[in-house]
Parts: sequence; C-alpha cells; structure tokens
Amino acid sequence: MPDLSVEIAGVTLKNPVLPASGTYEATRLPADTGSPAGLGAIVNKTITLRPQPGNPPPRTWETPCGMLNSIGIPSAGLKEFITDELPRLARLDTRLIVSIAGFTIAEFTALATRIADQPGVNFIELNLSCPNLKKHTAWAQDAVQLKNAISAVRKKVALPLIAKLSPNVTDIAEMALAAQDAGADALSVANTFRGMAIDILARTPALGNISGGLSGPAIRPLALYAVYSTYRKVHIPIIGMGGIARWQDAIEYLLAGANAVAVGMYNFVDPLCMNNIISGIDAYLDKNGFSSVKEIIGLAHRT
Ligand SMILES: Cc1cc2nc3c(=O)[nH]c(=O)nc-3n(C[C@H](O)[C@H](O)[C@H](O)COP(=O)(O)O)c2cc1C
Repeated sequence: MPDLSVEIAGVTLKNPVLPASGTYEATRLPADTGSPAGLGAIVNKTITLRPQPGNPPPRTWETPCGMLNSIGIPSAGLKEFITDELPRLARLDTRLIVSIAGFTIAEFTALATRIADQPGVNFIELNLSCPNLKKHTAWAQDAVQLKNAISAVRKKVALPLIAKLSPNVTDIAEMALAAQDAGADALSVANTFRGMAIDILARTPALGNISGGLSGPAIRPLALYAVYSTYRKVHIPIIGMGGIARWQDAIEYLLAGANAVAVGMYNFVDPLCMNNIISGIDAYLDKNGFSSVKEIIGLAHRT
C-alpha cells in the first residue's frame, strides 16, 4: 500500500486531503458522512477576535460549475471559540489547523498568541484574503501589508504559520514570495475569486453584499495555475485548493506542486468526496508504481 503521509512544516499529515476553511463542520457532521479522523487535517471556519454577525443575505448564489458566497465570517469571537469549539476540534484524531482573521495587525497577533497557547493546535492559518468584507481583509493583495501582517505574527508565535493567499492579484507567486520572506511556514493557495451575479427579475445584485467569492470546479484551472506558478517561486509547502471535486483533480494539484489539497465547495455537493479522493489517490499511486505520495509532488515541472 502506498504511503499517503505528507509533511508540512515538520508536522506529518496521515494523508494529503483536508477540508478548506468554511466548508466543513468537523464537530457537527451527520453520521453518514465519514469521520474527520480519516482526513489529513481539519480546519475551522475562520474566526475573528470579536463576535460579528456576517453579511446580509442572500449569502450564496449558484453559478455554472460553482458558487458565489459572501458569508462574511460570522464569528462567535475568540473567547467563545476557545471555550466551546476548540476543545471539541482538538479531540478529533487528526491534525488541527486554526484559521484566524484580523482586521488590524494587533488583532492578528492577539488572535495568534492566544490560539498558539491552546492544546491540540498544530497550525495557525492566517486568512489574509477574505474577499467578502467591508472591513480590512485584503492583506494578501498588497505585498507590503502581507509582509507586515505575517512578520508581526511570526515574531510572537512559534507554531507553524500557513498564509492563505488571494488569487485576486496580478501575480500570486510574487505574493507567495513575500509571505515566505516574512516567515510563513506554508501557503494556502488560494482563497476565492471575487465576482458577482445579478438577479435579473429583481434587477439588483444577487448577493446582499453585492460581490462575493467564486469557488468550485469553475475556478479549478485558474487556481491550479496559481499553485503551479507559486511552486516555481517558493520553497515552502503549498496546500492547493480551488475546485477540487474528484481524486483526479487532487492528483493534478499534487503534480503541480501542492504538498496537500483542500476541498471546499464540493463538500456541499458530496459530503463523502474527501474520502473518495483519498482512496482515489491511493489507487492511482498503486496503479502507477509509486510507493509514496511524496514522489509525485511537483512532478509536472519536470517537463
Ligand atoms: C461557503 C464558503 C465559506 C468559506 N469560508 C471561508 C473562511 O471562513 N475562511 C477562508 O479562509 N476561506 C473560506 N472559504 C474559501 C475556501 O476555504 C476555499 O479557499 C475556496 O472556496 C476555494 O476552494 P473550493 O473551490 O474547493 O471551494 C469559503 C468558501 C465557501 C464556498
């Protein structure tokens, strides 16, 4: 049987498949949707320092091969997360990534230092790229702001840091380099693409927030290229995401240079898709004579 384990910042994941933030409630799963313990890691929905309600509805809109969302990070706030959700997440038998978003650098460092003190957390993911809020979240769209935010957290926290980048930039690989220079241990590539839809009967923007983030299979070729070009520029590990629905998609990302892959929107279509992706990767490796998933990471760059 091929070895499915991968390493990110010195932490071993039992396999390279995990949910993308905001799309998988690991502690509230219906009984027939598989166990989070079978996944390489789990990630919470991004939390903020203070409680906030999220965006006005409608918050989602179906698009061809994808969806727009403008959820807007509704959050119970750090205190509530630490006393309620975090202990339940930390008890699950897999690696835990805690996703946080600050609207200021002081908020990012406050969140990160408290989270780093909690038992059972393996990584902190800095969501530097939510496209759906009126408050400041576009850190990853400006190399200087991106560096400032990451290096401020880096100075305070020894836990592995994953920087979640935005695809809404001219060259994501440049942003990846800035994140690496600032001390990020790994990258999530990437968040959603900003877009919108118009309700032609109401003759208004379809989303309450006017714009939202596009995700799902519609963005896969775009996000895959973001991973491919980022891999050529940086040496830190990449968690690739964007439109992954089947094991074949995950293999594409691994060949493009991702060390692990995250599934977002497709969890809503098929709650068992991550389990199927793991067994599909296993079968692909076996059939093609690879003894470890690590052997195929970045292989598409050889040509
Ligand atoms: C409903 C929804 C909520 C999301 N919430 C978050 C979030 O809280 N934090 C975050 O970093 N990304 C969030 N994302 C972005 C995903 O984590 C992921 O980066 C993106 O959707 C691309 O993957 P996909 O095409 O497989 O959905 C959200 C995406 C969706 C669809």
